[in-house]
Amino acid sequence: MTKDQNTWSQRFETALHPVIATFNASIGFDIELIEYDIKGSIAHAKMLAKTGIIPPEEGEKLVAGLEQIRQEYREGNFNPGVDAEDVHFAVEKRLTDIIGDVGKKLHTARSRNDQVGTDTRLYLRTEIGEIRSLLRQFQTVLVDLASANVETFIPGYTHLQRAQPLSLAHHLLAYFDMADRDWERLGDVCGRVNISPLGCGALAGTTFPIDRHYTAELLGFDKAYSNSLDGVSDRDFAIEFLCAASIIMVHLSRLSEEIILWASEEFSFVTLKDSCSTGSSIMPQKKNPDIPELVRGKTGRVFGNLQAMLVIMKGLPLAYNKDLQEDKEGIFDSVKTVKGCLEAMTILLREGLEFNSDRLMAAVAEDFSNATDVADYLAGRGVPFREAYNLVGKVVKTSLASNKLLKDLTLEEWKALHPAFEEDIYEAIAPERVVAARNSYGGTGFEQVRKALAEARKKLEN
Ligand code: ARG
Repeated sequence: MTKDQNTWSQRFETALHPVIATFNASIGFDIELIEYDIKGSIAHAKMLAKTGIIPPEEGEKLVAGLEQIRQEYREGNFNPGVDAEDVHFAVEKRLTDIIGDVGKKLHTARSRNDQVGTDTRLYLRTEIGEIRSLLRQFQTVLVDLASANVETFIPGYTHLQRAQPLSLAHHLLAYFDMADRDWERLGDVCGRVNISPLGCGALAGTTFPIDRHYTAELLGFDKAYSNSLDGVSDRDFAIEFLCAASIIMVHLSRLSEEIILWASEEFSFVTLKDSCSTGSSIMPQKKNPDIPELVRGKTGRVFGNLQAMLVIMKGLPLAYNKDLQEDKEGIFDSVKTVKGCLEAMTILLREGLEFNSDRLMAAVAEDFSNATDVADYLAGRGVPFREAYNLVGKVVKTSLASNKLLKDLTLEEWKALHPAFEEDIYEAIAPERVVAARNSYGGTGFEQVRKALAEARKKLEN
């Protein structure tokens, strides 16, 4: 790069060292923002004309030139290199090539500092909308799967020890609710993304009679930052987004972990279909759960992007510092990763796995996960719960020793334990009753699950 190609002022005697130019440049990644940069510039140009800062015909020229650049980019004919430094300079230079000296007026009353903040917010606003609709698709598949499995049982665990049997639908709807909070949280974050920094200038505002509310309105922002220093240096919205993205990944990763366990021979609760699993290069018998494993693995980079953003911000004096150029790659990466993971998990649940319902039904009939129900049975007949609990602990111990399940005990054995037991104890400890009986609000009882399903569907319709 020669000295004359330097974008900045004649204050500089020599050009940037080529290695430093590459080091300094962000064009390699911020080209991702080009559509938003052009959109922001068009709004700025219209405002300059509206306020009389430039004549109307110059405003029109600027807009037409910017639209041409957008067209060139879409057709693959605008590919700025490292010389351009960043997307903002690249667009401005190209504009001057196309429309001549008028192009040099675009940057009146603006700085790259408010410009980059505007672009990033417009980008995130769009991407948040897309992630929210992917969340809705993911939730739809969960509801469909849950609807088909209200009366399929699955062992419920605490400490990864068999605890109480569940309706499989109840288990799946737990993930629906997590995704619903994610959807809400992103909506909430968007309220803080959607504020316009345009017109904050480099840091202090501008001497020109600009109209920041007009550009904010043109760009669909809810309002404009009320403090110019805060406007150019705030990245709270980015931290919040990266945090919301991380929480989505926590949820997807927990589901992934469960699917990986369920697909193991030891659990055999699900079978992965060929379309969503891969083989081993050496062990011909293997069928691997690569999709959920990748989702679980990708969670790391999304957490990392949040951590990086927090660390970038923590020691920054006001206002703009070049450190802020480092915000973008993490944001782009988290956006792409979360979108990719949501898409993959949606496909996996929709068509990539099958629940082995026979195995699931058998699983809950062959354990002691009905022990609480025996205690509840006695407690319901006036025995203090703690006393009942101790009695059942005893019977579990002796049953284990004689290789029996609770359902195998004779009525005499039950009565010997406590006279309150009657013939109906067998019904009370059958898996179906055990699940159905948990009919408290939010519980796994079929009635509750059907209500929850109806609520879930209502949410998706809105
Ligand atoms: N490429 C820069 C960034 O991404 C644009 C803003 C540059 N501003 C400045 N004062 N050097 O942050």
